[in-house]
Amino acid sequence: MFRFLPEQASSFAPEVDWLHNIITDLSVFFTVAIVGTMIYFAIRYRKRDGVDHETPAINGSHALELVWTIVPSIICVYIAYYGIAIYNDMRTVGENPLIINVTAQKWKWDFQYATGKSTTGEVVIPVDRPVKFVLTSTDVLHSFFVPSMRVKSDAVPGHYTYVAFTPVKTGSYHTFCTEYCGKDHSAMLATLRVVPQSEYEQWLADNSAELALAAKGPVDKGRTLYQQKGCNACHSLDGSRIVGPSFQKIYMRKEKCTDGNEYVADENYIRNSILHPNALIVEGYAPNMMPVFEGQLSDEDINALIAFMRTLDGTSVAPKPVVAKKEEVDLSKLTPAERGKKLYQEKLCATCHSLDGSKIVGPSFKGLYGTPQKLTDGTSVAADDAYLKESILNPMAKVVEGYPPAMPPYQGQLNDENISDITEFLKTVK
Ligand code: CUA
Repeated sequence: MFRFLPEQASSFAPEVDWLHNIITDLSVFFTVAIVGTMIYFAIRYRKRDGVDHETPAINGSHALELVWTIVPSIICVYIAYYGIAIYNDMRTVGENPLIINVTAQKWKWDFQYATGKSTTGEVVIPVDRPVKFVLTSTDVLHSFFVPSMRVKSDAVPGHYTYVAFTPVKTGSYHTFCTEYCGKDHSAMLATLRVVPQSEYEQWLADNSAELALAAKGPVDKGRTLYQQKGCNACHSLDGSRIVGPSFQKIYMRKEKCTDGNEYVADENYIRNSILHPNALIVEGYAPNMMPVFEGQLSDEDINALIAFMRTLDGTSVAPKPVVAKKEEVDLSKLTPAERGKKLYQEKLCATCHSLDGSKIVGPSFKGLYGTPQKLTDGTSVAADDAYLKESILNPMAKVVEGYPPAMPPYQGQLNDENISDITEFLKTVK
């Protein structure tokens, strides 16, 4: 009765389910018995024809009292005994366990192996060998849950907890975060892959991915982040002004801020400006334009970004800016869609909106025109001319679900003709 449990993939899963099922069955039995009797009595002894029925007066029954004391006591002791015994099994780490460190962070799971190998979002273990996951968190409470293995434990900042089990079946299993930890809690998933021993050894020995990543120095990593995180949409590398100050020669530059003070853009200033961009605004720039990156970048990421900024002294070869070279083209000879495409490149829409359906910072332009968009406020809107115009001039008004409110407003930067050209261009991107 009522068997909705997931696959049993760890050695103690059958025991856990057995006890779980007994408790469920007992609960159902007593619920039906008690509520059923209650309903029966309510009907049997209801007030009929305005006449109260007298019920028999029973003054105690030793037999009955003994039964309803002893029987539930036995049931409770039985459940407690097996509960403790099975819990002990679950907390006992088997012999020669594979120990993996798990670090929870908004909103991902990192796994570290003793060999130095580390993964994110996927963990691979050999079948039939005891495994111990040692959990911790770098920020808030999370909870590591693998339903098929019947294990779950909180991941606590500044503290270690663990789950231990022996997988008995190969396969891919879901792991979840089961402690509400903020915006992307529901997306904080990982895959647990149980494979044969030989495949595990092969996988563990393959460190090509790590080597490629480690080979990237902080400067390269910073440059990658500069593009990945969309910094390039607002901060140029060539000294030109977009939405925010250019990154060219930014390191140790003196910035006059709107609070009236002058600051040197040293490591601390840059770090604070990334994490809390609205605390200090450089004079001449609009406030509240930049998304807060607190919780989205690790210390290592920030170090990499700063290392990258240090190289932007105007002498080294900066990566090519995305701005297309200005050509002298007779605009009147172009079709509206062609002019729109030109604007798409010149106004840097391309930095955040792809044409091939891939997700960068904002929604792709592929097939966008006319398609309904789900917004963060839960409503839906068709991407028609009026919506597109509003989204260009005042992008924060209607943000599509799943995207950060990261686009600068183009009010005053594009005229009506520009916008209708862009819309014509979007119609052609199918
Ligand atoms: Cu991490 Cu919810």
